[in-house]
Amino acid sequence: MKPLPKLKLERMRTKKIGVAVIGTGFWGKNHAKAYKEIESTNLIAICDKNADRAKIIADQFGVKAYTDSKQMLKNKEIEAVSVCTWSTVLANEALIALQAGRHVLVEKPMAADVKQAERLLKTAQNNGLHLTVGFLTRFIPGLQHIQHAIARKEIGELVCATAIRVTQWPERIGDVGVIKDTAIHDIDVMQYLTGENPTAVFAKTGNMKHRTFEDYAHVMLTYKDGKSAFIESNWLTPYKTRTLTVTGSDAIMKLDYMTQELLIEDAKAAVQPRFAIVEPLKLELQHFAECVTEKKKPLLTGIDGIKALKIAEAIIKSSAKNKVIKLE
Ligand SMILES: NC(=O)c1ccc[n+]([C@@H]2O[C@H](COP(=O)([O-])OP(=O)(O)OC[C@H]3O[C@@H](n4cnc5c(N)ncnc54)[C@H](O)[C@@H]3O)[C@@H](O)[C@H]2O)c1
Repeated sequence: MKPLPKLKLERMRTKKIGVAVIGTGFWGKNHAKAYKEIESTNLIAICDKNADRAKIIADQFGVKAYTDSKQMLKNKEIEAVSVCTWSTVLANEALIALQAGRHVLVEKPMAADVKQAERLLKTAQNNGLHLTVGFLTRFIPGLQHIQHAIARKEIGELVCATAIRVTQWPERIGDVGVIKDTAIHDIDVMQYLTGENPTAVFAKTGNMKHRTFEDYAHVMLTYKDGKSAFIESNWLTPYKTRTLTVTGSDAIMKLDYMTQELLIEDAKAAVQPRFAIVEPLKLELQHFAECVTEKKKPLLTGIDGIKALKIAEAIIKSSAKNKVIKLE
């Protein structure tokens, strides 16, 4: 192959964005790995308040370890960060990064509550920074296909969508329940598919095995034109299921998030469009980096995170009060 001219190589290099990960437990480690593999990102450092953990992960990826994000952010090469700490600490760390002038991808559920999430959005907007949330399901090609098919009315009118996300999950940190941890993905999926806010929610939740927070939830969302959405989430079912079924007036679409297989059926035929299997986390981080370097409009922003958290809070309230909660 012909070698690239020096100038072109130089330009390619300058396009790399310096990134870091705050919180490198089970999930943050995957962010670090993905950043290491993505061409447009340069993983510079990682931070975990657990010093042993920080050292292990930093050594694994050949970067510098920190236990305090403020110290880490003194490094001006870091332009953007992923925040992957425990859910109730996400907003603190995201705020530190935004106040230090860094673009932020904060993991779901974005913040412990809507108030914290709104503060993040305001800080990002005031400083002209990107703020996005880790709803990686949106990057699965089958889901994008479903969204386009609904928008183009290829399955007729949207009648309802049902999401199931269940598996056994041990109580670990236990700082949020199954709604803010797990169902929040499907809450965002419903926002993505319908393009609108539900008018009301009704939910039944409970804790069967976990001590502090709910470990199962059955949720119904209703919309102004009569369509509805159902979300079933739990940490109890002894095997993992992650599916979405969308019913239209002319056809239905079924997506298995784990195999990424999509099936479209109407009264006469069933078709199975094929997509290359992708790693949604990698696509999500690539998109984040591109939005920063190329000043592109992101697929989702902090606004989507706030909308999902508002619905999650209404779901929790509905179950606690055993009544339908109306949303504006
Ligand atoms: N988008 C997804 O699909 C997805 C999947 C899994 C987890 N997550 C999210 O990622 C986050 C982390 O989950 P996890 O399972 O990796 O948890 P974890 O407990 O395995 O890891 C959290 C890490 O954060 C560190 N930490 C806590 N506070 C910190 C701080 N102030 N500064 C630096 N480090 C800090 C902890 O020491 C720990 O190593 C959660 O918010 C979770 O909701 C998202």
